[in-house]
Amino acid sequence: MKGSRKDISWFLLHIMCNFTNISASWPPISNSRVQLFGLFDKAENASEITEFTLHSRAMFKAAILLSQQYNITIEGYFITWQMSSTDGNTMVALGDTCRTISSFDIFGIIGPVFSQEAHQIADFANLSGIPVVSYSATDFVLSDRNSYPTFYRTSPSDNTLALALATLFIRYNWTSCIIIYQNDAYGIGGTKILSETFLKYNIEITNLIVFDIVTLSIQGNLKSFLSNSASRIVILWSVLTYIEQILRSALQADVLGPRFTWILTSSISLDSFDRIYHSKLIGILTVEPVPGSIVDAPINTTLLNAAYQVWKQYDPDSFPVTTRVNPYALFAFDATWALIQALQGFCSSIKSSSSSCLSYNGPSFCFDRRLVYSNSLLNTMNLLHFLGVSGLIQFDMNVTDRSNGSYYYVQNVQHTSDHISFTPVLKYDTSNGWKTYPKTQVTIWPGNSLNPSTGRAMLAGVTLRIGVIESIPFTIVTNVVDSSGQNVTKLTGYVPDLLEYLHNRIGFVADVQLVPSSLSYSGLVEAVANGDYDIAVGDITVTSARRELAAFSNSISDNSMRILMRKTATVPVDLLSYLKPFSPNLWLLVLGAMVFASVILCIFERKDNEALQNRSIISSAAMSLWFAFGTLVGYGADFHAQTAAGRLVSVGLYMLSLVLVASYTANLASDLTILKTKDLIDGIDDMKNGKIPFNRIGIRVGTAGEDYYLREISSGNRNFYSLKSRQEMYDALLAGIIDASFMDSGTAEYVTNNIYCNLTLIGEDFDKSAFGIVTPKQWLYAKDLDVNILSLRETGILDSLKKKWFEAKLCPTANEPSTALGLESLSGLFLTFVIICVMSLGVFVWYNRDTVQNYLPNMLARKILLPRTETYIVNFSINNQTSTLSSPPRSQIHM
Ligand SMILES: *[C@@H]1O[C@H](CO)[C@@H](O)[C@H](O)[C@H]1NC(C)=O
Ligand SMILES: *[C@@H]1O[C@H](CO)[C@@H](O)[C@H](O)[C@H]1NC(C)=O
Ligand SMILES: *[C@@H]1O[C@H](CO)[C@@H](O)[C@H](O)[C@H]1NC(C)=O
Ligand SMILES: *[C@@H]1O[C@H](CO)[C@@H](O)[C@H](O)[C@H]1NC(C)=O
Ligand SMILES: *[C@@H]1O[C@H](CO)[C@@H](O)[C@H](O)[C@H]1NC(C)=O
Ligand SMILES: *[C@@H]1O[C@H](CO)[C@@H](O)[C@H](O)[C@H]1NC(C)=O
Ligand SMILES: *[C@@H]1O[C@H](CO)[C@@H](O)[C@H](O)[C@H]1NC(C)=O
Ligand SMILES: *[C@@H]1O[C@H](CO)[C@@H](O)[C@H](O)[C@H]1NC(C)=O
Ligand SMILES: *[C@@H]1O[C@H](CO)[C@@H](O)[C@H](O)[C@H]1NC(C)=O
Repeated sequence: MKGSRKDISWFLLHIMCNFTNISASWPPISNSRVQLFGLFDKAENASEITEFTLHSRAMFKAAILLSQQYNITIEGYFITWQMSSTDGNTMVALGDTCRTISSFDIFGIIGPVFSQEAHQIADFANLSGIPVVSYSATDFVLSDRNSYPTFYRTSPSDNTLALALATLFIRYNWTSCIIIYQNDAYGIGGTKILSETFLKYNIEITNLIVFDIVTLSIQGNLKSFLSNSASRIVILWSVLTYIEQILRSALQADVLGPRFTWILTSSISLDSFDRIYHSKLIGILTVEPVPGSIVDAPINTTLLNAAYQVWKQYDPDSFPVTTRVNPYALFAFDATWALIQALQGFCSSIKSSSSSCLSYNGPSFCFDRRLVYSNSLLNTMNLLHFLGVSGLIQFDMNVTDRSNGSYYYVQNVQHTSDHISFTPVLKYDTSNGWKTYPKTQVTIWPGNSLNPSTGRAMLAGVTLRIGVIESIPFTIVTNVVDSSGQNVTKLTGYVPDLLEYLHNRIGFVADVQLVPSSLSYSGLVEAVANGDYDIAVGDITVTSARRELAAFSNSISDNSMRILMRKTATVPVDLLSYLKPFSPNLWLLVLGAMVFASVILCIFERKDNEALQNRSIISSAAMSLWFAFGTLVGYGADFHAQTAAGRLVSVGLYMLSLVLVASYTANLASDLTILKTKDLIDGIDDMKNGKIPFNRIGIRVGTAGEDYYLREISSGNRNFYSLKSRQEMYDALLAGIIDASFMDSGTAEYVTNNIYCNLTLIGEDFDKSAFGIVTPKQWLYAKDLDVNILSLRETGILDSLKKKWFEAKLCPTANEPSTALGLESLSGLFLTFVIICVMSLGVFVWYNRDTVQNYLPNMLARKILLPRTETYIVNFSINNQTSTLSSPPRSQIHM
């Protein structure tokens, strides 16, 4: 080694001046051919920072002194140290390092503290070929072995922390967060890796807020950032130094407990906070790296006790009496111990070769020097494997982080006796995830609550201006005189009941306002979008146009549309309705077939059939016709075909009968059913087909019905009769100005069942949709509202409300169309029967014209017509063939 020593005394003096107050009792730095260089934080005034710095320095020195105690020598030399302090200024750190390396035989660097320094020092160390082992730099970029071939670290990297945080979010079902970060390598790198990790786990980062470490202030308005975010979890990614300051800003802006849950990356002393703030600080969480002993992972206790012994021996004042040793001090010890182990192992492997393992080449100037056996030393580092005081120490050739031994715990601000302090509540290691910390019972959440934060903006305590729109039975407005004689407006109905349930469940402060009747539904949605109301509740259909203006909650009620019409008057009497089942042509055909069958039957049978023999041609034709008719309607005649040809004709008639009777019966039944429900239109399809003139369809402007009409019926043409209000619609319908209108099914059923019994609903419902509560877009509390609406639905409360308000029925049921057939619908049939009877009477009279002429005056005089009639009925019987045949032809009555 060719280094000049002329500035040693100056440097020693420099160090002594800097640290005499801190390290007075440690043995003076003795010069050696083997030295390690420690880069530590400046000891600031704040007690935790001092603790962090003091403990790290002490353990660094303890490790080196311990190596001396253990008689660990490198080529016969004990290892000693050089130290410097940094404050985050990379150039100062680099200058110090350069100066030290130029002057001393440095074979490894412990530190630096800050990530942004670590980048520079690691680059520089690669030049000299000496390993750098940091005990507190966490930036994930430093994990890249290719960029930082000589860098190692014993503190867990931000990769691991991000993963631990994501797991914590999943544990508590949090889905979003706000990040406040300091604008340096640590903060920016941390935010980057956190964003990447959270993206993988579907955790949304709603805001990124910068804490400027130069001006020491939050950029922008902390209060408005946080209050306007839908998330209530704040991750503060900042080093110890700035945490108190940021917390004080948060207190000022009142964005701590109980509304917000803060997660810090480090715990601080809370003693400096005034007592009045304690309630707001309770529930703060920290996620901090810890040594293995805290999470029951194996550590080398022998080594740890030996190190503490050394510390106590040289600097009993700084040794913590009751509190723990700062975890970073253990990381610093392991960093130093790892270097000592590596040096020892590497030099014993180099021994065989001719030159010393400690040789440097090049001039003494730091940037020109390089360790000759650098690669060998780094390989030894990569293969290192021992149980340190913070857990297993093992490195990897591909990443600079330790491959095992990254542990965290969550601390929680709780009340202990009369002050507040951090209490560990959860512990983490990469293989097991988060587990409860053995010695703690509970986690206290902001607001001194035992229930975990939901992580999102909650409506509890928030005042809401709620717009409700009059619409029976959703919102029924009545004026009542209260006990003090005041005329007050009272709201009842589905919506006020729903609001009451929501209010009880969520705890918001409801300021319910009845919107002016001039405002249409779409206008109300606009009013919410403009901020006139916070939310609007009612039978407000979710439509695409409205959704563009504002947001909607989950559905509070299903909806569809119905057609509303006047009840139709009595069914018009149609005498021929019983003929409807068959078309006139078919009737003619049936008649033709019957006549034809009777003619050929008469021809075939006249000779052989007794029933047709010996008669006049007209008589036998009539008998044939009688036979054909009887067979066709399925009842048969009182005689049968005798010839084969005649029977064949009968077969034909039977077949006709089989089908015709069945078809007639079926068609008649369905025709009579349709007849009962005969309306102007049957449903929305008839309306689309124009069965009602468009100007007789009434549509309320600014309703979902208007949208539907324009979209589905008139293709955008406003040719309907436009209405302003429901009342106007009812009046116009009843007055016959319009024939039909659209209405939401729930209200429509209620109105037709209870108020306007003369109105009725036609056809199936259509255009299914849902009613939702209108909220502003990206409303903070949207999730809270939705969760509660869903739980009302799941617990059946929405259904019971529906029952309560929609199942009422005041209209008399008699007005319902009955299912029985009316007299009118079959009147024609009976008329036909009467006509036939009259005709038969005519025929009877014709045949008995002589008797009638003789006896009618007598009969009228004596009013005894009946016995004669009976006589004729007896004679009428054709069963007594012989009697009939032997009777005079006049007495035969046919058809
Ligand atoms: C530390 O203490 C000194 C004097 O006691 C004071 O001047 C300085 O501002 C303090 N520094 C911090 C960061 O509080
Ligand atoms: C180290 O060497 C000294 C003197 O050579 C000896 O007294 C001491 O016991 C040795 N310590 C160990 C741990 O071997
Ligand atoms: C590290 O140093 C080696 C040897 O000087 C050099 O080849 C390599 O490019 C350096 N790597 C980086 C990332 O600077
Ligand atoms: C998280 O959600 C699951 C499933 O929904 C539930 O079982 C669990 O209780 C929730 N945990 C917390 C802390 O709310
Ligand atoms: C602890 O460290 C000491 C000193 O290096 C070593 O002798 C001992 O074997 C270690 N113990 C374990 C359990 O690794
Ligand atoms: C390191 O990376 C190389 C190539 O990327 C791979 O082959 C090797 O197995 C890795 N080593 C370890 C210990 O993961
Ligand atoms: C880390 O160490 C623990 C305990 O020694 C061991 O069970 C685990 O497998 C190790 N994990 C890895 C990734 O080496
Ligand atoms: C209350 O006032 C309204 C108008 O504001 C009026 O229509 C109603 O009749 C009044 N009711 C009573 C009971 O005085
Ligand atoms: C048929 O008429 C004759 C006399 O006309 C009578 O004696 C006989 O009882 C009648 N038969 C039946 C079945 O009515």
